[in-house]
Amino acid sequence: MVGYPGMMQESIRKIEETRLFRLQQEIPRLNPAEKNRLLEKYHPDFRPGGMCEVRVGSNKGQRMQAELVNLLESYSCVEPDQINLAKVDHNVDVLVVGGGGGGTTAALIAHEQGAEVLLATKLRFGDSNTIMAEGGIAAATQSNDSLYLHFLDTMGGGRFQNKRDLVKTLVHDAPLIVEWLKDLGAMFDTYPNGNLVVSFAGGHCRRRVHSCKDLSGMEFMRVLRDELWNRRIDVLEFSPAVEILLDEKGNCAGAVLLNLETNLPIVVKAKAVILATGGIGRLHPNKFPTTNHYGATADGLVIAYRAGAGLLHMDAIQYHPTGAAWPPQMLGQLITEALRGNGAQLVNCKGERFINELETRDVTSSANIREVRDRKNGIRTPTGMEGVWLDTPLIDIRGGKGKLDRMFAGIVHRFFEYGIDPHQEPILVFPTQHYQNGGIEIDPDGKTDIPGLFAAGEVSGGVQGRNRLGGNSLVDIFVFGRRAGQTAALWAKEVQALSKITLEHVYQYNKELALMGVEKDKKSPLVLPDYSRPDNEARSYS
Ligand code: FUM
Repeated sequence: MVGYPGMMQESIRKIEETRLFRLQQEIPRLNPAEKNRLLEKYHPDFRPGGMCEVRVGSNKGQRMQAELVNLLESYSCVEPDQINLAKVDHNVDVLVVGGGGGGTTAALIAHEQGAEVLLATKLRFGDSNTIMAEGGIAAATQSNDSLYLHFLDTMGGGRFQNKRDLVKTLVHDAPLIVEWLKDLGAMFDTYPNGNLVVSFAGGHCRRRVHSCKDLSGMEFMRVLRDELWNRRIDVLEFSPAVEILLDEKGNCAGAVLLNLETNLPIVVKAKAVILATGGIGRLHPNKFPTTNHYGATADGLVIAYRAGAGLLHMDAIQYHPTGAAWPPQMLGQLITEALRGNGAQLVNCKGERFINELETRDVTSSANIREVRDRKNGIRTPTGMEGVWLDTPLIDIRGGKGKLDRMFAGIVHRFFEYGIDPHQEPILVFPTQHYQNGGIEIDPDGKTDIPGLFAAGEVSGGVQGRNRLGGNSLVDIFVFGRRAGQTAALWAKEVQALSKITLEHVYQYNKELALMGVEKDKKSPLVLPDYSRPDNEARSYS
């Protein structure tokens, strides 16, 4: 039992005192110039030293998140000459790397197209950011909404740096995806008349986020995994991809996986490979904690980059405005934006609001950081961590008793475990790393620069621009997972025979690093985060 210690109680009383006033209070949205000023001063992407130039590979000379550059400027964790490429362990049409929503969707669709599919995943099948997704999936399904509005909001949220053809595809396919998930058996929240519940999220001008309580990702993974098992598609667990294989013509020809139990390589020859390996949260950019699952270590970015694929917007990281800041056992965990979409307010130690809660995430996170760091209006905890309040009792006050339990059962349960009752008391929050906005550059069919290599979901880049809107990730993984699955299967049908498979690109990359004088013990991909290293003192919010 943790609850709130005495030092935090005084500001809880202030919250209670101002609650009625705040219920009527309108906070205007910021204009573009105000947003830019806020971002430049407080968003972690603008921190000195946070980004650096990568000195090797397709994006040489471009600025990227420093923790990623460190991995891109590292030697392969496999010794290429110790891999026996003549001994192929699996030979398939389509290899899908990643067992979250994007990978599972891609595997299902490639299989539907008649391809022989193998899905390889780093941890257990389903361990992913998808399964931890809370708020829901964005789609313009309502009569007051349109694809056009969803398109405009997504472009605006991404600071108009998104690839327009990808956004067009995203919003176009989104309503079809909701239908597809319903057909698979996903139990969406509905009103008593059967209509789908839709909520606001920051930057969306309409209610368009469809949820399954605050366990949306868990529900989607439930039906996807069932479907994959029913179709008897092969799955290799505890087998992360550690290098891409190319053939002599430069086509993607499979991957080297690592058996985490034996530490031995597994050679998979494939006519097409789909990377759906997710994000980079466990690199802890700028030493922030993360909402991401344990395997989110940028492996897909590293191996695709080494094979020659281009990356986009890797200097744009998303910090979710509301990561748990207390209790310490929950530090950095996702506190869904849907709470704000349903009326919870951000409030400082004086009981004052300081930002419109439905600004885009980059802006809201920056405002939270400003409130704590500059204005000194944060709430301090016994660990030294500071945050701002998310006034959750407003959900039932606004939406009627029972709404919090009905829509946010997961959050209520988790806080109850630590002696905090979100019906009665606010939740302490602070930004937490949530998403990589960029990734491997793709086209609307999930194709990368490398023939035969496809990507879908968080590992891919372009669709979200420099800042993703809430609910646009779940739709991204399904839209582009489906498209990558379809295109990869068609591609595999066209491939007659691969020429000799090689790891020549790895030798070349290693050679370039040696010429740069990179120390020999720097290896990547990371595969698993190493919390024993002193320089991996993540979660310190330095
Ligand atoms: O706040 C959330 O539930 C997160 C949603 C998202 O990242 O799309």
